[in-house]
Amino acid sequence: MAELVPEDVFGEDYLHFYGGLLGDERSDADTDVAVARAALRPGDRVLDAPCGHGRLAVRLAARGLRVTGVDRAEHLLALARADAGARGVELALVAGDLRRLPVDGPFDAVVCWFTSFGYFDDASNLAVLREFRRVLRPGGTLLVETLSHDGFVRSFTEAPEAIVVETAGGDLLVDRNEFDVEHGRVVCHRVTVRDGVRRDTRFAIRLLTVPEWRRALAEAGFAAVAVTDHDGAAADLETFRLVVSASA
Ligand SMILES: C[S@@+](CC[C@H](N)C(=O)[O-])C[C@H]1O[C@@H](n2cnc3c(N)ncnc32)[C@H](O)[C@@H]1O
Repeated sequence: MAELVPEDVFGEDYLHFYGGLLGDERSDADTDVAVARAALRPGDRVLDAPCGHGRLAVRLAARGLRVTGVDRAEHLLALARADAGARGVELALVAGDLRRLPVDGPFDAVVCWFTSFGYFDDASNLAVLREFRRVLRPGGTLLVETLSHDGFVRSFTEAPEAIVVETAGGDLLVDRNEFDVEHGRVVCHRVTVRDGVRRDTRFAIRLLTVPEWRRALAEAGFAAVAVTDHDGAAADLETFRLVVSASA
């Protein structure tokens, strides 16, 4: 099973339930972290992959960076295009798969934000890192922002405890998670109820430990790996979200 995240996970329901979590405040803060951690300057070439609805890509472009966003969800790329138009900024938005990026670069930086890594089996996850390496210029920076394996496991609560999101209109998203110790994956059983219609889906995300990050990035040809929290402090057991950085 190469692919652990079916396409419908990022279908129309995704922003219906998660849009509230990804507003201006968080997106501006995430952009600040990306700019600071990759030492980005106006004119730098940046790939945001996967870019989703472009919340980082558009903001990076607004700061004078030359941005390309790649995602496989056309409806999210359309939202990114509309947002860029509304803000009067230009960027390239390209449909494509992380395992075979539809671009060649070279880029000064690649950013992969908001738990967007680990959607495949280990061989394909490594292929994604190799693709990031391929499109970076020598010395370019990769940033991956994602869940910490150790932080997640430490605070993990076994199903049937659930994460529930209720929208203002009364629609519901219920995530029940399991942890697949054998493969180091969080497995999510998701139920959404929208306008009274229930949908069930299941997906898994591989979470890497710090030594696994170091090994995988070295295998993909990266150096100078650092695994930290958003503020740049070395990750510890309390760190829930990581910023993994590496040099091509
Ligand atoms: C959690 S979202 C994050 C998007 C963006 N990085 C952000 O911070 O808002 C993950 C994205 O991965 C995209 N995606 C999932 N599988 C993909 C694949 N195989 N190739 C390209 N994009 C993919 C989805 O369409 C979705 O937009």
